[in-house]
Amino acid sequence: MTVSTKKKDSEKTFQVKVIEHQNPNNPKVLSVLEGTTILEAMQENAIHLQHNCGGVCACSTCHVIIKEGMENLPEMTDEEEEQLDEAVGLTLTSRLGCQCKIYGDITVVIPDQSIYLGH
Ligand code: FES
Repeated sequence: MTVSTKKKDSEKTFQVKVIEHQNPNNPKVLSVLEGTTILEAMQENAIHLQHNCGGVCACSTCHVIIKEGMENLPEMTDEEEEQLDEAVGLTLTSRLGCQCKIYGDITVVIPDQSIYLGH
């Protein structure tokens, strides 16, 4: 387990289970401080999640699928909903990783990122 050391809104930590598209049978379990975004959690733990706009809700490359714990994320804003419409492989539980602060345990699927890397 990797523990994030970055100080956020509080000292509470939550469990983030990460299922990567290319390695679905080997999920990673992270311990993440409350208020960390999904994108930040991935960056802090060296898990690749594309973020072409730098995390300002202006692309859709940080698209993730929430498998469990949607109730532990903030409600989607109109801006997020608009950007998310552009995401490849959109699902009913899709979110933008840069817009979702973590307020409880979640399980998240990182979709195929190769479409952005050109291989
Ligand atoms: S990184 Fe661009 S919308 Fe999240």
